[in-house]
Amino acid sequence: MDRIFQDKIQNLKKQNLYRDQNSINERLSRQKELINFSSNDYLGLAEHSIAKIFNINSIDYSNSDSDSIKLMQIPFGSSGSRLTTGTHLEHKELEDCISNWKASKDTIVFSSGYLANLGALSALIDKEDVVFIDELAHSCMWDALRINNVRKYIFAHNDSQELKTLIQKYRHQYTNSFIITESVFSMDGDIAPLGDLKAIADEYSSFLYIDEAHSTGIYGITGAGLISEYKEKNPRQGFSNLIQMGTLSKAIGLEGGYISGSSFLIDFLRNKARTYVYSTASSPFLMKIAQHNIQKIIQGNDLRQKLFNNIKYLDSLLTNLQAKNEANIKNKFHWTNFGSPIFTIQFQDINECLTVSNKLLEKGFICTSIRPPTVKIARLRICISSKHSHNEILSFYKALSIALAV
Ligand SMILES: Cc1ncc(COP(=O)(O)O)c(C=O)c1O
Repeated sequence: MDRIFQDKIQNLKKQNLYRDQNSINERLSRQKELINFSSNDYLGLAEHSIAKIFNINSIDYSNSDSDSIKLMQIPFGSSGSRLTTGTHLEHKELEDCISNWKASKDTIVFSSGYLANLGALSALIDKEDVVFIDELAHSCMWDALRINNVRKYIFAHNDSQELKTLIQKYRHQYTNSFIITESVFSMDGDIAPLGDLKAIADEYSSFLYIDEAHSTGIYGITGAGLISEYKEKNPRQGFSNLIQMGTLSKAIGLEGGYISGSSFLIDFLRNKARTYVYSTASSPFLMKIAQHNIQKIIQGNDLRQKLFNNIKYLDSLLTNLQAKNEANIKNKFHWTNFGSPIFTIQFQDINECLTVSNKLLEKGFICTSIRPPTVKIARLRICISSKHSHNEILSFYKALSIALAV
């Protein structure tokens, strides 16, 4: 399936419209000797680093190997878009780091997850192509499809049977086909049936585009996400039609987004994803910290264990609360958890949802209510982290029990 993007790149080359990375690589290798006459850094502020801002001149940086001193010199601003002057070594290093982590050939970084989905999907899918998308896929993916007004068929949430029926019926009418979903759903915390989706994608020559925003950092031996966990369990299965999307904004703790996939696919996106080409590159400093955080995640099995332990703890408390089935909270308490860090408590009455959220705030707990149109049914979205102590979870649970009582 890689052939599709190889051909598209060939076409760009024929028209002399292909933007290769060679000039950028050349510039990076000679960074110190070059004087930039193409930057948007009109006042020279993008070059600011911790060392410059705090005027730390007493250290001979040039001779220092210390990581902290090197970090202090990395500029905050990129000064341009990735294809002009914005690419720094830190962008390249982060893209290599994510590719290795996600076992992908290549990766392209965007300044947010929203822009990654918007830019990638609007570049990859043409008018003659077709999309099969889960009804609960994140808004930014729907926005991307709107841009090109692409042909789409919507399957019921996580319903691979309905997906199969639709794809069987319509796939043959179109050139390329894309199945789009999330691995952990942002508002419900439930998990896509990856094995079934992969089998359908393989059978019907479709790309499988998976948003891993909420699974990256959490699943798999190194925390690379649910797809990595799936590959670990099914090492013999090839995954050449896979396109992985992720963010730096959830478990990685920063901001930014990325797409990992085959070399041709990523090369094509570097040429055609408009949110990459026409937007200022992310801060090089941030790119360095992202690498640091990913290394922490890779080595952070203890963090993941703590997280899953906390998830189990809150799950047991809520199960207990439901089992008590106290008269005063009867009929109002509908909660879900699917083993991910996201819990929901759903309310038919939006005001009630807001009231409970406010009561929790009064007691010192932030627990936001999510309302339509973001979701169909209003809910408290509870997110558990490895940072919570059991005491904090217990106090939260007690405040919640009181807030839920009439
Ligand atoms: C599933 C999913 N995809 C994409 C995004 C967008 O990511 P970002 O916040 O980094 O722009 C989000 C964030 O809300 C999300 O939940």
